[in-house]
Amino acid sequence: VVNNRITWLFHYSALLSAVAEANVPLARAVNITGFHNILDIAAEHNLRLFVPSTIGAFGPTSPRNPTPDLCIQRPRTIYGVSKVHAELMGEYYHYKYGLDFRCLRYPGIISADSQPGGGTTDYAVQIFHDAIKSSKFQCNLKPDTRLPMMYIDDCLKATLDVMEAPTTSLSMRTYNISAMSFSPEELVQEIKKHIPEFQVTYNVDPVRQAIADSWPMKFDDSNARRDWGWKHDMDLSELVTTMLNAIGSDSRVAQTN
Ligand code: SER
Repeated sequence: VVNNRITWLFHYSALLSAVAEANVPLARAVNITGFHNILDIAAEHNLRLFVPSTIGAFGPTSPRNPTPDLCIQRPRTIYGVSKVHAELMGEYYHYKYGLDFRCLRYPGIISADSQPGGGTTDYAVQIFHDAIKSSKFQCNLKPDTRLPMMYIDDCLKATLDVMEAPTTSLSMRTYNISAMSFSPEELVQEIKKHIPEFQVTYNVDPVRQAIADSWPMKFDDSNARRDWGWKHDMDLSELVTTMLNAIGSDSRVAQTN
């Protein structure tokens, strides 16, 4: 931070929801102690600090359809607990010490460039790889499990927009952002428009299903849209076309190599 004259810090390190449940001590170390380290550095060096939060910061007692920015947050996962902690500590440091803390609650993020990383929303990334590779997919959530999702480009745009937003436009320090909500069966239907022979079976993972059932089905992001002009670009049909094209061309390159 000192040698490179860093002024903005984006802190992404975290174990995602499903892997965190399988290793709570590691999740505590990375998601909570790791965040404390970053918070100290940001406060000491007067940095603008971005930390992503998540749909996982809500729980079974939160309103799920839609979930507003301010409501009950009693997550039942260590991942969710660590993210509520980050939201509250960041906001506390902002009000107490003037730290320029900015936080977005991300939906499930979908990208062709990275492999799934142990989250509950990962099925919505893996499904594209398997559809291209074998036209078959085994889904670990029930077909009607609806969750908020977003394409990576929208996520990165929101992140830069909120970091660049004038302080005076921010009425809060933690915002929901939303693009679309869908269930596995809706995603499958959309993929079948491109790959009609695509076959899906359901083999529900009880840990992931319980997590998904406690999370928002739809995010209310009206404060982000009003305060700093948040607007998503990509809906479900465009997401599916983009993902199939990106992963399809990667696998063609791999085959010819
Ligand atoms: N994608 C994350 C997960 O499923 C949610 O923030 O854990």
